[in-house]
Amino acid sequence: MDRTTIALQGTLAGFMAEMAKAQPAGAATSSTTPRPASLLDRLSPLPYGWDMLDDFSIDTFAKQIVGPVLTRAQAHDRKGRLLASGINFASQDYLSLACHPQIQTAAVEAIARYGVHSAGSPALMGNTTLSVELEQRLASFLGMRSCALFPTGWGAGYGAIRTLVRATDHVVIDHLSHACLWEGARGATRNVHSFAHLSVKELEENLVRIRQQDPSGGILVVTESLFSMDADSPDLQAHQDLARRYHATLLVDVAHDLGSMGPTGLGAIETQNMVGKIDVVMGSFSKTFAANGGFVACNEPGLKLAIRFGCGPHTFTNAMSPVQAAVVLKALDIVQSPEGQVRRQNLLNNALHLRQVLTGTGHTVLGLPSAVVPLVVGGIGHSRLLTRFMLAGGMLVNLVEHPAVARDASRLRLQIMADHTFEQIDQFAEVLAEATRQAVDELGRINQARPEGELLR
Ligand SMILES: Cc1ncc(COP(=O)(O)O)c(C=O)c1O
Repeated sequence: MDRTTIALQGTLAGFMAEMAKAQPAGAATSSTTPRPASLLDRLSPLPYGWDMLDDFSIDTFAKQIVGPVLTRAQAHDRKGRLLASGINFASQDYLSLACHPQIQTAAVEAIARYGVHSAGSPALMGNTTLSVELEQRLASFLGMRSCALFPTGWGAGYGAIRTLVRATDHVVIDHLSHACLWEGARGATRNVHSFAHLSVKELEENLVRIRQQDPSGGILVVTESLFSMDADSPDLQAHQDLARRYHATLLVDVAHDLGSMGPTGLGAIETQNMVGKIDVVMGSFSKTFAANGGFVACNEPGLKLAIRFGCGPHTFTNAMSPVQAAVVLKALDIVQSPEGQVRRQNLLNNALHLRQVLTGTGHTVLGLPSAVVPLVVGGIGHSRLLTRFMLAGGMLVNLVEHPAVARDASRLRLQIMADHTFEQIDQFAEVLAEATRQAVDELGRINQARPEGELLR
């Protein structure tokens, strides 16, 4: 494959595959002596592959923010060079709490009182009075009897599934579920069954088939309250009803709408009247609550105990730090206050405005109004060039591409904050129009030199 094709069509998974071909495991040094595979040598050409993106100035991944997370920000590229300075649609801080003065004060006070470190597993002495208070506050916010904290949201999703599911059990999972849920499922059992995104019909077909083949096995159904790649939500009541009917347990990941959506900040579980009615709710603090960390909440207190003493990413790791706990507690105060309501309304107004401006100018946005606006931009080559011109035009954006989404449906996953202004959103649309023209021209120029069958998209 030539450099241009690799840079404009190659995915990270593709680079890995190319490298593996260049240096196959166990390659023979002579016709009779196979050479043992070196795991590290196998990876050493990868930086050169990745650097090909540089030829076209499209190495826009692994950006470094310079300064605080605000609606205006500056980013360096992977190599520390200035990449973009302007309006920030690339951070996850849905209610604009990362730089909120009350939250910063809460963090400083927690440091003064506890120091910066939890210094232990929650199974030993890593809890603080702050983390215990947070567990109780979250359980009551969610209408659940108990809650366990994790130092990351990823660990909460993975750990919840690993704790619930044994090797002989089954997991039935929405196809678009987050990686932490998939990896938890695959790590827990070989019996992983996926159903088409949001399809209640396919979920039931799976449950019927599993129950026919395995009348007594445990089954966990896994979905999310708001899927961030497509900005859509499942019918939670239907999922829970089916789980009950087939003696399965439902787990819902609320990472993307807890705190940021719904009249009191409970997201789809609130708007669908499901508060306190879902078997297991897990989530992350990193989108709306201005901190790393996650939780698993349930009406069965046995789950919390099982997590406390037998869940890798909870038991065998240090507890979330007192600073994280203090930040999330203060963020929860704000989420539950009149200010939180105003912030959610601003966020929603911004999401509606952005969606309207984009659809009004002929663009495709997926899903329903929420903090995430997935803007479909097309093939990999075009979308990488478009991202380059967006960044150059002062719009900080993230590109999501294959294999996370279909090859011809790369998207800019725009993340709205409560503090964005309509003026900033209108500016985004103007830059998008110009960047689209530039990307089309540039790809056309590159394609001019290529034979018909090898045109890049
Ligand atoms: C749906 C979902 N679940 C879990 C996680 C993991 O959360 P965190 O990044 O806070 O560890 C994420 C974030 O990437 C997510 O989008």
